[in-house]
Formats: sequence, structure tokens, C-alpha cells
Amino acid sequence: MFIEVSNLKKSYTSGVIKTEVLKGIGMKLGKGEIGVILGPSGSGKSTLMNIIGGVDRGDSGCIFVDGIEVNSLKDDQLTEYRREHIGFVFQFYNLVPNLTVAENIEVVSNISKSPLNVDEVLAAVGMQDKKHRFPRELSGGEQQRVSIARAIVKNPKLLLCDEPTGALDYHTSRSILQLLQQVNQKYGTTILMITHNAAIAAMANWVFKLRSGEIVDEAFNQTIVPAERIEW
Ligand SMILES: Nc1ncnc2c1ncn2[C@@H]1O[C@H](COP(=O)(O)OP(=O)(O)O)[C@@H](O)[C@H]1O
Ligand SMILES: [Mg+2]
Repeated sequence: MFIEVSNLKKSYTSGVIKTEVLKGIGMKLGKGEIGVILGPSGSGKSTLMNIIGGVDRGDSGCIFVDGIEVNSLKDDQLTEYRREHIGFVFQFYNLVPNLTVAENIEVVSNISKSPLNVDEVLAAVGMQDKKHRFPRELSGGEQQRVSIARAIVKNPKLLLCDEPTGALDYHTSRSILQLLQQVNQKYGTTILMITHNAAIAAMANWVFKLRSGEIVDEAFNQTIVPAERIEW
């Protein structure tokens, strides 16, 4: 298995109040698959994704990603793991405002061991003709395309997307989902995506439903629906 999480627990303590955010999560995802995490706000989706991506740490349990035991890495190894293997896409793009489109991507490719070509990646997300623009000169959907280009330029093994269409309208959302499906096919990138939108689950191999820090349901889709055919 490419991702293998077992009995992952995480709590946050503020003052004397301890909140159990993840209560023993188990999940698996194969290499090159798309997994979708569905669940209400506050159910622990981002916490789970951040721990898998090495941004946060679990309190106990095991997380293997491509054979790496993420939860036992030292801080510098965790930074290396994140930099080498993980691409992140967020709801609000997080582009650097005073860098152009191309520069936003070069910032990442310059520190990667075996990056993809910047122009190739820009072409893959359909943004080659806007490479000299600044983020403020782009629509939300275009900014998300750039943030996907930035995430994939390092050729990550795993692309983690936290509500990537959360700020986009229907048609733009579908084109972004289509793009993620193309990235998955073209580069063989394993994708784990968080969403509120149950319709999006149709494009995933695996669907994990999270509620109050527990996986309450997991389902395997025999047939994957192309993103352009998903409706909601
Ligand atoms: N750094 C933190 N400190 C304290 N509580 C947190 C922290 N991060 C998340 N939480 C709490 O953990 C719960 C799950 O958060 P989160 O993983 O962001 O949920 P989701 O992404 O499903 O909306 C929420 O109740 C949230 O308030
Ligand atoms: Mg979240």
C-alpha cells in the first residue's frame, strides 16, 4: 500500500480541556489512486491530511507513505520528506502575491531534486500564456491552476488537496477536478483530496467518510467517473 495509516490518534489541549480530534484512524490508499475524504466541518479532515503530509504530528499510531514511517521522522527528516515527496493544494491558493506565475512555480522547482520543467507544468495546467502575470491579475480558477502547477513541479509522489474547489464556482470547480484527474493520469501522482461535496467522490478510487475523528465509512468505486461528467 502507498498510504497506510493505522490507529492514528491526535488530541489538542487548551488549558485543562483536551479534545480528541482523531480517535484511531485507519485507512489505505494504493499508488496512483485517488482518495477522497468527506466529512463535516471540524471532523478532523485537515488534521489527518496535515499529519500524512508531515505538517503536523500524530500523538500515536503509524503512518506509512511509500514505505516511509512518517510519524517517527525527526524534525529535519520531516522537512525533507515534505519537500521531496508532498505537493499541497489549498482552498485559497496561497500564491506569493509579488511574484509572477512563473516565479511562483520556480520558487519550488529551484529547491527540488528532480523537478519537472516549469513550462511543461504551466502547459499541463493551461497557464503558459499567463506566465508573466501576477496572481491578482488572475481569476480564482486560474490561481488554483497555478497553485496546482506549483504543487506538481517537484514531481511529488503524493498530492494533498484540502478543499481545492471550496472557493470556486461550479464550472471552474469541474475544470479544476478535471485537471487533477489529468495530473493523476499523466504523472501517476497519488492524490488525496478533502471535500465537502459528496458528488466529487465519484471521481475517486476510494472514499473515506470522517465524522468526529473517526472513519465511519469507506467505499471503493469500481468505476471512476470522469470529472467532466460529475454534476451537483
Ligand atoms: N492547532 C489546533 N489547536 C487546537 N484545536 C485544533 C487545532 N487544529 C484543529 N483543531 C480542532 O480540531 C478539530 C478538527 O479540525 P480540522 O482537522 O481542521 O477539521 P476539518 O478540516 O474537518 O474541518 C476542530 O474541532 C478544530 O477546532
Ligand atoms: Mg479543514
